[in-house]
Amino acid sequence: MTRKPLIAGNWKMHGSLADSRKLVEALRGGVTAGARATMLLCPPYVYLSAVHEWVRGSPIVLGAQDIADKPATGAYTGEVSGQMLSDVGCSYVIVGHSERRALYGETDAVVATKLKAAQAAGLTPIACVGETLEQREAGETRSVISGQVAAIVDAAGVQALAKAVIAYEPVWAIGTGRTATPEQAQEVHAFIRGLVAARDATIAAGLSILYGGSVKGANARSLFAMADVDGGLVGGASLVAAEFLDIFRAAA
Ligand code: PGA
Repeated sequence: MTRKPLIAGNWKMHGSLADSRKLVEALRGGVTAGARATMLLCPPYVYLSAVHEWVRGSPIVLGAQDIADKPATGAYTGEVSGQMLSDVGCSYVIVGHSERRALYGETDAVVATKLKAAQAAGLTPIACVGETLEQREAGETRSVISGQVAAIVDAAGVQALAKAVIAYEPVWAIGTGRTATPEQAQEVHAFIRGLVAARDATIAAGLSILYGGSVKGANARSLFAMADVDGGLVGGASLVAAEFLDIFRAAA
């Protein structure tokens, strides 16, 4: 089963409209149709429509950083539905990023509900899992990851993973400059694939598992060379065109 590499840029709450435009213009020049990898940009909600215009006619695709946990429109002040994201050109959405889990109290149950809401709107969810430094040092990496993956599979069914992406993002590697080694990433990616394979081997074989956490041009090649690393979810380095293009080329 060949899995097309996905290189996703998570801008988080960074940049201005003007910065975003410059970034997208620079990225467009470096992404040619027919590239072996897909480039995905996940700007803040309010810039989605603008970025959608700027990437028009290029192979770059658009995603959101979050989604409401409600499947339909309603009285949910401040929230954005999957249908709205789809309306403004999104095809992907990140769910359960560790910053959402840690800073906004998102539980495994909320993450699973968001994943289902995304799929109900025809979006491909990128579900994030990962352990903290404390959990890794206590030898709990596998139990934490298996709990996070099981919460999704139990709530949404293993079939949901036929149209989803998983991102392994060790919390200790996010924004810290401390990347997992390729071997550490591969070990957890293979573990995740094994968890899914225990429920459905075909879905596991086709599942894209991205690595995230201080991915840069300098470490991307060795990470993407690993058998079960199918691309990257990139934060800081996705805000610098030359760096993000370097990462993209490492996969493409
Ligand atoms: P980072 O962020 O690349 O800046 O470590 C990754 C992420 O949070 O998705």
